[in-house]
Amino acid sequence: MKNIVVLASGSGSNFQSILDAIQSGIIENAIVTGLIAGRPGIRAIERAESAGIPVAVLPEAGDETQMTNTLTLQLGKWKPDLIVLAGFLKKIPEALVKQYRNKIINIHPSLLPKFGGKGYYGLKVHKAVIASGETDSGCTVHFVTEEYDEGDIIRQVRVHVNQNDTPETLAARILAEEHKLLPAVINDLLNSNSY
Ligand code: GRF
Repeated sequence: MKNIVVLASGSGSNFQSILDAIQSGIIENAIVTGLIAGRPGIRAIERAESAGIPVAVLPEAGDETQMTNTLTLQLGKWKPDLIVLAGFLKKIPEALVKQYRNKIINIHPSLLPKFGGKGYYGLKVHKAVIASGETDSGCTVHFVTEEYDEGDIIRQVRVHVNQNDTPETLAARILAEEHKLLPAVINDLLNSNSY
C-alpha cells in the first residue's frame, strides 16, 4: 500500500478527486494518510474530516522555518510515497524539495511553461490566457522544484478556449479535466518502479 499526502489551500476539489479515485479504484493500492492545509477554515479541511483523514494546518503567520518544521514533522508521521500539491499556494521550502526530490507533484491550470510562475494562480491564470488571445489552454501535472511551476512536466491536457469564454467558464472546463488528470497521473506514478 502506498501513502499519499495532499497539500491544499482552498476548496480542495482536486483533493476530493483523489479521494474519489481511491474509492472507485482508479487509484489502486494507495491511501491518503493526511492533508496539510495551507490555512485554517478552508473547504479542503471539511472534505478531509468527512473522509476521516487526519489534518494539519500550517501556522498562518508562520515564517519559512516554522513551515519547514511543521511540514517535516507531519511528513515524518504520514510517510508519503508521493506528496501532491492540489491548489496549494505556498512555496515548498528548499530543504523539503531536496528531501523529497521527484516525490512532490503539483497541478497547475495552464499549459506550462505558459502562464506559470509567481503570481499565476486561480482566476489570474485564466484571465491572462483570455487576454493574450490564446486558442488553447489546459492543465499540467509536473514535478515540484525550488522554483514555482518549473519542474519537469509529467502530463498535460489541452482545453480549447472558446470565443465567448470568461475566466470563470474556462476555469470550470479546465478544472473538470484536472479532476481526471491528477488521479490518473498519481496512479501511474505510484505503480511505476520508482515509488
Ligand atoms: C486548481 O485549478 C489547481 O490547478 C490550482 O488551484 C486550483 C485548486 O482548486 N493549482 P481546488 O482547491 O482543487 O478546487
